[in-house]
Amino acid sequence: MSDSECVCYDDETMKVLILGAKGMLGTDLSKVFADEQPYLLDKEELDITQREEISACFFRLKPDVVINAAAYTDVDGCETNKELAMKVNGEAPGYLAAAAKDAGAIFVHYSTDYVFDGKKSEGYSEKDEPASPKLPLRPRSEASQRGEEQRG
Ligand SMILES: NC(=O)c1ccc[n+]([C@@H]2O[C@H](COP(=O)([O-])OP(=O)(O)OC[C@H]3O[C@@H](n4cnc5c(N)ncnc54)[C@H](OP(=O)(O)O)[C@@H]3O)[C@@H](O)[C@H]2O)c1
Repeated sequence: MSDSECVCYDDETMKVLILGAKGMLGTDLSKVFADEQPYLLDKEELDITQREEISACFFRLKPDVVINAAAYTDVDGCETNKELAMKVNGEAPGYLAAAAKDAGAIFVHYSTDYVFDGKKSEGYSEKDEPASPKLPLRPRSEASQRGEEQRG
């Protein structure tokens, strides 16, 4: 879908699925979309590193919109547990994007200032090159940057 295209849903029929729903962003999004009675899932219900479980979940729930607020956000933890950081922040966005595409759902993934430096006033597009001058070599940046590439 190009930037100028718009998909419209009847509010009563739009099914929104929020992943990482118990986190900071997920909690706020749950309030924003309260009228849509969104599906709210966190790690206990759907671990986003589990590719087959994601596909099965999307097939079952048939969401119109999937919003990914799930992430491994512990910066120090990302250093000691690089493999998990890469799985959650680097690989999982790709699994989610592919499963959302298969399900015909719009996929929304949040970036972070560990990927983009935030200096662009007009906002970032999917075509912008990652730039994380603060902590270019730290695992949180590397994993999230990989996630930007994977989510397509
Ligand atoms: N908060 C902000 O101001 C802000 C600003 C810019 C961008 N963002 C981006 O928004 C996203 C969410 O940030 P946040 O601040 O809301 O983080 P958060 O409070 O740490 O929430 C992340 C949620 O994801 C869950 N989670 C972790 N691993 C998971 C897995 N394998 N499967 C499913 N769920 C998993 C966490 O569960 P556990 O706690 O049980 O691990 C937690 O509920 C991140 O990508 C972040 O970079 C946030």
